Amino acid sequence: MKKYLILLALALTLAACADPRVAAPPRPTMQAIASNTTLTGDVAEGARVWREKQCVSCHGATALGGIGKSLANTALPFDSFLSKIRNAMPPKPAMNTTDLPDAQAYSIYLWLQTLGASTQSTPAIKPALPSGQILGIQVWVEKGCDQCHGAFAQGSDKGPALAGENFPFERQRAIMRQYSEQNPAHSEKNIPDDLLQRLLDWLKRGADPASGC
Ligand code: HEC
Ligand code: HEC
Repeated sequence: MKKYLILLALALTLAACADPRVAAPPRPTMQAIASNTTLTGDVAEGARVWREKQCVSCHGATALGGIGKSLANTALPFDSFLSKIRNAMPPKPAMNTTDLPDAQAYSIYLWLQTLGASTQSTPAIKPALPSGQILGIQVWVEKGCDQCHGAFAQGSDKGPALAGENFPFERQRAIMRQYSEQNPAHSEKNIPDDLLQRLLDWLKRGADPASGC
């Protein structure tokens, strides 16, 4: 479980940092991805991607819910389904088309239609993800790190990969603070040293950012 981010980083395509210090991209909006009518999907692929992209950790193996709500047999139209995936709903990070291409999202959607919704009103399902992981993802999204370093810290064309990196804290902090005027996300105001240290520990080892252990 502590390898969660690292595995994801490996599973996803790593993008190199082409040009540092570019402005943060706007978050994906609903308009940008409305009306996907030409997509084709595959139910078996949907079931596979569900596990591979960690939806399973928060929504459960049969999508009956956990940290995130039940999505089995979801009544959401596909456009809304996709827009919710593309936008952050902490602790769920925003996932862009590199994290989860439209076609894979559509396959998941088709697979979800094959599942029965829960008959119980509120199933008491224990979250599959340990609390430290949830908090880590939450800080990651709330502080905007996902916008440039990727939903799962796997890197993007806006910032380098951080998952699984093992650089000393002082080095990481120095790089961040150096140009923090241009990049407010890197500033001490956005993320003070103590929280940053916990966050980086969490990225390295899946540590709990609350306790810092
Ligand atoms: C870190 C936990 C986490 C992960 C991983 C995660 N989700 Fe979520 N998801 C949530 C939370 C929390 C919400 C907020 C709504 C809620 O309370 O259920 C949510 C909401 C959603 C919604 C909107 C539901 C609605 O009706 O408003 C969709 C769709 C969704 N997730 C799909 C996915 C898919 C597909 C994946 C995998 C690619 C995924 N999620 C991965 C936690 C997660
Ligand atoms: C606007 C895009 C952007 C945002 C938002 C952002 N970063 Fe960065 N980050 C970068 C870029 C680009 C670099 C490459 C070095 C540089 O130019 O400062 C970087 C470098 C880093 C490094 C050093 C990486 C290395 O291995 O050398 C760390 C650590 C880091 N960021 C952490 C964070 C954290 C934590 C957050 C959230 C609080 C965050 N960043 C938010 C763009 C961003």
